Amino acid sequence: MLTEYEALQKRISVRAYGKAPVAPEVAAELGSLIGEINSTSALHFQLSDAAASGKPAVKLTPAMFSGSVPLCALLVGPEGEIGGEMVGYFGQKLLLRAVALGLGTCWVAGTYDRKSVSPEIGEGEKLWAVIPMGVEAEKTPILQRTIRSRIRAKDRKTDEFVESDYPYASLPSWVRAGVEAIKVGPSAVNQQPVNVVYKGGLVTMRLWKEKKNEMMTMDLGIAKYQFQVGAESAGVRGFWNFGEDGEFIAE
Ligand SMILES: Cc1cc2nc3c(=O)[nH]c(=O)nc-3n(C[C@H](O)[C@H](O)[C@H](O)COP(=O)(O)O)c2cc1C
Repeated sequence: MLTEYEALQKRISVRAYGKAPVAPEVAAELGSLIGEINSTSALHFQLSDAAASGKPAVKLTPAMFSGSVPLCALLVGPEGEIGGEMVGYFGQKLLLRAVALGLGTCWVAGTYDRKSVSPEIGEGEKLWAVIPMGVEAEKTPILQRTIRSRIRAKDRKTDEFVESDYPYASLPSWVRAGVEAIKVGPSAVNQQPVNVVYKGGLVTMRLWKEKKNEMMTMDLGIAKYQFQVGAESAGVRGFWNFGEDGEFIAE
């Protein structure tokens, strides 16, 4: 199994799933991580498993994806900004575990058939996104291959993710490792809407785009998790306070 940081570096959005089923022990490990996440948060993540239901775990939009999906995380969580951020943060933790276990994954908030999944949704909750999980197809069709290069062509440069009084190169190495982890992470339609703010020795994060939407609250949570894994790879463990401008607390 890969380490979490190796999984972070390897991860890309997989848009073509092969025929191989997910090994039962891999599905069980992901199910138990979901149990842990739900019991320590207000989240209500669930797994849709084709091996149990006899139908694809989710139907993805064919223009964006190919193949049949064997396993899919259904990311149900509280409505509202903090709900979205928590879904992003813990969803990314789950996604990186799936990658570490050898599966291909992708965040999908829009381009799937909502009627192909039937999660339990409590009062004040909603289905924010799904994460298909499965063995990557040996060959990715050209259509799905070109989506990534097209979307990633407008990537921001690393130092553009930082607001600080100091030049990027002089920031502590663990802050730079965190920022680099955000840069290679996913964001909805690759908007990369998050900035790290390093001022007075404090690290916070904010959405820099003027026009904000709910999808970006997930992007914020995802970026917080990516930063945390990146910083840890450079020797600094810590955790985040949720909310825009929430602080990173190094241990
Ligand atoms: C919150 C969120 C929602 C997303 N929704 C979709 C989606 O509905 N359809 C899709 O094809 N990709 C979706 N993506 C995947 C992004 O397009 C992809 O992560 C981004 O383009 C970066 O490419 P990469 O993940 O290969 O690095 C989503 C990503 C995030 C973070």
